[in-house]
Amino acid sequence: MQKFQPGGFLDALNSLVREYSSELYSFCAITENRTDNIPGDHEREKKTFISDQYLTESLKDANIFSGFNIGKLKIAGPLVSAPLAGISDNTFRIFSHAFGAALNFTEMISSFGLHYNNRATEALSNITSGERPCAVQIFGCVPEILLEAAQRLQDKADIIDINMGCPVPKVLKAKSGGFLLTDEGLIKKIISDIASAINKPLTIKIRLGWDKNSINVHRIVKIAENYGASAVTIHGRTVKQGFGGDADYEFIKKIKQKSNIPIIVSGDIDGPLKALQVLKYTGCEALMIGRSARGRQWIFKNILAGLDYFKKIPFPEYVRAFDYEPSVRFKKRFALMYLSSMIEFEGEARAVKQFRKYLAWIFKGVSNISRIRKDFFTVNDYEDVAKLINDIKG
Ligand SMILES: Cc1cc2nc3c(=O)[nH]c(=O)nc-3n(C[C@H](O)[C@H](O)[C@H](O)COP(=O)(O)O)c2cc1C
Repeated sequence: MQKFQPGGFLDALNSLVREYSSELYSFCAITENRTDNIPGDHEREKKTFISDQYLTESLKDANIFSGFNIGKLKIAGPLVSAPLAGISDNTFRIFSHAFGAALNFTEMISSFGLHYNNRATEALSNITSGERPCAVQIFGCVPEILLEAAQRLQDKADIIDINMGCPVPKVLKAKSGGFLLTDEGLIKKIISDIASAINKPLTIKIRLGWDKNSINVHRIVKIAENYGASAVTIHGRTVKQGFGGDADYEFIKKIKQKSNIPIIVSGDIDGPLKALQVLKYTGCEALMIGRSARGRQWIFKNILAGLDYFKKIPFPEYVRAFDYEPSVRFKKRFALMYLSSMIEFEGEARAVKQFRKYLAWIFKGVSNISRIRKDFFTVNDYEDVAKLINDIKG
């Protein structure tokens, strides 16, 4: 396996995506005739919260899978790649885009860091052509400093997004992220000041509220609408919940019924059937995928293929069948391309070190991966990693 040249990067990636599509479709052609490949009743109970019959009947003519607009910006499909601190870097976004995400997000960028000219902070907002459209997400709590950050980044970004949902203690202590949900007046000021001062669409990413006794997502979406935001992403949990429990789509559905701007749903979307169910149930324009896309961006292709197939043959069983785990052969190619891209952006030493966590995500379920992971702590460059990956059986 050769390291590819920087110039041919996107071509090589697109050819990998084509290879994956043919693997996926040939697998699903088999499942059409072999019902034994479709998960059994136990699996179905776990994953289904809307009856198959309801979905089949209600979605026959639905056109919920095409694009939508955020302000004047056309978003070409229903899938969005999530902001993930420490993960949604250039490589993550390039791979998300190539496998079918219609919109990317940078990780959250500190407005204070920008204010104090921190170069590492500023670098997080660098976007390359293979990642667009891409929202640049900022966080903070002082309206003037957030405004300054938005103005400074607007020429790089396709959208400016403000984080109003992060539950990390350090961020909450700084009265930022999810803490903002406790002050609707402040949210009003932040949105109206920024929306009227920038030439790109402004969006916000929120949770249902601070805790279950102070759910205010409905009021915040109205504030967003009335004061100039062009879309809202809602993670279906409260700030206090962190990542515990299940995402609650019921609130989001009710809000969508009354909202005039696009709503993107976030939380626990982990495959084609769940995607279909949540799109249908909430009536929202798009779904954001976070943890399930880490090192596994083929999930975007799986979901798009499942939704597309459902338009032709509206049986949820077949959508479920697109929940496909790629061959080990494909995963090896994917892994080495991912690493090559990380090296281009971050340099070899740092990229190889960072790549360790991706191995587990990419090769999930592959039998000899734990031994390889141990060996991984001894490698320092691309060639060593390539040797290890080529040793993976399958
Ligand atoms: C490691 C990690 C980092 C995250 N970083 C951010 C972030 O920088 N900005 C943000 O708005 N949300 C962030 N989130 C939240 C995700 O964008 C998403 O809303 C959440 O994980 C729920 O979606 P999921 O179930 O698809 O992962 C992060 C989540 C995780 C797990």
